[in-house]
Amino acid sequence: MRKTSTSVTGDCLEVLRDLPAGIFDACIADPPYNMSKKRGLAWAFSRHVTMQETWDRFSNEEYFAFSFQWLSEVCRVVKPNGNLFVFGTFHNIYTLGFILQQLDRKVLNSIIWVKPNAQPNITCRMLTESSEQMVWACNNTRKDARHWTFHYAEAKQFNDGKQLRNVWSLPLTRRSERVAGHPSQKPVALLERVVKIATDPGDWILDPFAGVGSTAAAALPLDRHVFLVEKQARYVRAQAERMKSLSLGGKLRFKAAAAPKRKASAKPLSSHPISL
Ligand SMILES: C[S@@+](CC[C@H](N)C(=O)[O-])C[C@H]1O[C@@H](n2cnc3c(N)ncnc32)[C@H](O)[C@@H]1O
Repeated sequence: MRKTSTSVTGDCLEVLRDLPAGIFDACIADPPYNMSKKRGLAWAFSRHVTMQETWDRFSNEEYFAFSFQWLSEVCRVVKPNGNLFVFGTFHNIYTLGFILQQLDRKVLNSIIWVKPNAQPNITCRMLTESSEQMVWACNNTRKDARHWTFHYAEAKQFNDGKQLRNVWSLPLTRRSERVAGHPSQKPVALLERVVKIATDPGDWILDPFAGVGSTAAAALPLDRHVFLVEKQARYVRAQAERMKSLSLGGKLRFKAAAAPKRKASAKPLSSHPISL
């Protein structure tokens, strides 16, 4: 394994395919949610506009195929029994959970991140969506999963010494923490919690959808290593600036993706082993 944490600019489908099996201890993945509209919704009382990113728009078939491919690759490159954390909202979490079950991974928990300061619902036709979920799975079959990393005592520290529950209330990413206007940047405090309770110092953590590097901002100060992949060069540039401003510049090196041995393509659903 490489000695220095690395951020690769590229498409994770291509980058992951060229990596050997079983090289990471854990994966924290915050993939596209497939919730963006061509034109986001705005309202008069705030500057907030709902997501309208092109990287977040797929047909249902494309999204399933894409998710199946990257999750399969993640399961290959993470060690058996390594921890997998996959973020999502109601838009995509059922698809991702279904795929993990089809891949026969042992799902350990569904963690609910409650946002006490969530944006109001603009349409006023439904409830205010104020949570995201994380599927926590062990990278092995339900039958064989064992010895996944879980720091039980450390987890209790996040709940006044009592058993930590699966509902975590943490505010949205603070304005002072925001970088490069990324529309779905995760709070470092949320990722620190995951890193502390589910990885060990010295571990290698894969983040295939790294955005502006929140996983690195949480993991590097805790003496974990990271391998980040992000498709958009502007977000990778923002990672570099962010690491510098956090005095972590020397801990993360940046690389362009090598020319892929095989080109990534979102295969049509019919070519996947799952029949719906
Ligand atoms: C939900 S955001 C992740 C945000 C990240 N957790 C953070 O806090 O900054 C998803 C990111 O994945 C990137 N992305 C989308 N498709 C990708 C792909 N195929 N390979 C690599 N990155 C991709 C997007 O550019 C976006 O920055």
